[in-house]
Amino acid sequence: MLTQFPGFIDVHVHLRDPGQTQKEDFFTGTAAALAGGFTTVLDMPNNAVPVTTAERLAEKIASAKAKTVCDIGFYFGSLGDNIDQFPLIHDKVFGIKLYLNHTTGNFLINGDILDKVFRAWVYPQPILTHSEEDTIGDVVKAVRAYGKRTHVCHVSSKKELEPIIQAKEEGLPITCGVCPHHLFLTEDDVAHLGSYGRMKPSLKSKADQDFLWEHLRYVDTIESDHAPHTKEEKDSDTPPFGVPGLETTLPLLFMAEKEGRIGREDILTKLYDNPKRIFSLPTDPDTKVEIDLDEEFEITNEGLHTKCGWTPFAGMKGKGRVKRVILRGKTVFENGNVLMEAGSGRIVRCRS
Ligand code: DOR
Ligand code: ZN
Repeated sequence: MLTQFPGFIDVHVHLRDPGQTQKEDFFTGTAAALAGGFTTVLDMPNNAVPVTTAERLAEKIASAKAKTVCDIGFYFGSLGDNIDQFPLIHDKVFGIKLYLNHTTGNFLINGDILDKVFRAWVYPQPILTHSEEDTIGDVVKAVRAYGKRTHVCHVSSKKELEPIIQAKEEGLPITCGVCPHHLFLTEDDVAHLGSYGRMKPSLKSKADQDFLWEHLRYVDTIESDHAPHTKEEKDSDTPPFGVPGLETTLPLLFMAEKEGRIGREDILTKLYDNPKRIFSLPTDPDTKVEIDLDEEFEITNEGLHTKCGWTPFAGMKGKGRVKRVILRGKTVFENGNVLMEAGSGRIVRCRS
């Protein structure tokens, strides 16, 4: 039996286009989104050439226009030296992303720059942070000082989530997301995954993982942080951080639902309602995904739409096969096939 859901929203993906299309491009990345049950994705700015100018954003949007098969929106990046660009781009993006810890790309900022950007970002869209255990305190301080809406990405541990819970209880305008890899894998999995289990933030202990599950009510979004890298890159002496996730998030969550670890309502809240509200996303009543929840399967590296062709969840059990995706009334994906022409997805803009 098919169950119908609204088109799910992944607020955190890296589709690598332009600049690193050996890893992924807007066609393969958005095809992976449809195959995974997502009709809207929001793409991060840490491209090979960082998206920190209006011109680069325009180039990125042009590339997406030609290739996307689902709806897609963008974030802007900042190292604190492009504040003059903010008035030019604010209405074209869903937020500004700041990296307080090292990760893929050269994007690192310190606490002083954080303050500078918090003062300069005067728009309704949130500030998003990559802030791990050692930097989350700076972010909470900045939210308290400037009162700007802030979304903390990929919270992975007790040390990261606890200060956010406190900030929420204080009434600060802070939201946060967790990734499936932090919910379903731990540092013990690195033994067999090797570089395929390395991402930022890193996999944590079972105790940290339990803390995330036990405090899921404080978590606003489940976001894949879909970060494809080629097998060659992962097998090299300097493997980049990141794992793909668009096609595995829902099967893992529906399996967790079966096991009584998460409710159906929570899945809908964290992958549809909250993303829509936090990022003021336009949605459409005729955009739907149909999923066969009776289907249970082993997740494998075969048959994925992502160009990178692997998943860190291979061998794990998934539940729920996306059978059909309907975008604004039109069937765009059915039984594993993308039925849309490259470029027929929509570039979405923030409603606020
Ligand atoms: O593991 C990660 N990979 N974490 C990030 O924050 C960035 C991402 C990437 O771009 O590869
Ligand atoms: Zn990311």
